[in-house]
Amino acid sequence: MENQQKVIFSGVQPSGILTIGNYLGAIRNWVGLQDDYRSIFCVVDMHAITVRQTPADLRRRTYETLAIYIAAGIDPARSTLFVQSHVPCHAELAWVLNCSAMFGELSRMTQFKDKSAKHADNINAGLFTYPVLMAADILLYQADLVPVGQDQRQHLELCRDIANRFNGVYGETFRIPDGYIPTGSAKIASLNDPTKKMSKSDENVNAFISLLDDRDTVLRKCKRAVTDSDSEVRRAEGKDGINNLMNIYACFTGKSDAEIEREFEGQGYGVFKTAVGEAVADGLAPIQNEFARLMQDKAYLESIMREGAETAFRIARKTLSKVYRKVGFVGL
Ligand code: TYM
Repeated sequence: MENQQKVIFSGVQPSGILTIGNYLGAIRNWVGLQDDYRSIFCVVDMHAITVRQTPADLRRRTYETLAIYIAAGIDPARSTLFVQSHVPCHAELAWVLNCSAMFGELSRMTQFKDKSAKHADNINAGLFTYPVLMAADILLYQADLVPVGQDQRQHLELCRDIANRFNGVYGETFRIPDGYIPTGSAKIASLNDPTKKMSKSDENVNAFISLLDDRDTVLRKCKRAVTDSDSEVRRAEGKDGINNLMNIYACFTGKSDAEIEREFEGQGYGVFKTAVGEAVADGLAPIQNEFARLMQDKAYLESIMREGAETAFRIARKTLSKVYRKVGFVGL
């Protein structure tokens, strides 16, 4: 019963077609949590523009990301789904929190360092303050739990630091959120370089499996996945490629490492890679069917966005008013 009142918040950037990394690291867990928590899920379009986007693509991907949330099992009747730019409180709270976030701590964010290196011609201030907007997202809804993949752990820590600092100066204002980071699926690796995370913005399309890849593409990408020169399917240090494929296979089949090792004993990598591809393709098929149906119905998606924005705004406005009062802004 107590759980009923607890809040979860999470989001995905519509900066590319979502990958199985986003699905296994985040969205799939949201589906499991939505029964036990007051659930709020956002398409964070404002975060996406920290890297240059083609406007028409961003618009289309915003619809697609929402459709994927629903197709993957998020139920709009039980969870609030909305688009970040539809609720102005996010930008407003981010400004206030910018004044409680330190240059030094933002400089230490590994995602900022990585993205600055990758987009050296566009190291904009938004990229730098990105984690502050993310903190605003979470704190506006007084979230208890934030289900994300491993790569967001540092941002979440920063969110907690900012919230604690603000509470320390102005008095209890924000609930301090915990992360919900799954084991096994929190860091799905690139198929091309299993020491790196799988990313939807990777230039090499063979490095990731998109949730919308067709069966042949999934099978081909799994076959080409980089593995070691050994031939034994077993989890071990240094076998990053195989460990990653075992993680993916385990997520889609529910099998344990021991079961997987037994299943493929003496069979070599080729057979295993085909089995991984088939398990992934089977798992994605129902999501893809539902996605295709939803994308035919823009009016429905817009009604979800509109309703979600209204609900989110009501909650967010309350926190923002409290913050404005605490910092000394005159309320009329
Ligand atoms: P984004 O869009 O990069 O990724 C969305 C979610 O997918 C997880 N993820 C992965 N999990 C496992 N393996 C991978 N290879 C992998 N790649 C991505 C991410 O950890 C994330 O949970 N900053 C966030 C979006 C955001 C947000 C928020 C999240 C903005 N505001 C508030 C939670 C709460 C991001 O860039 O996610």
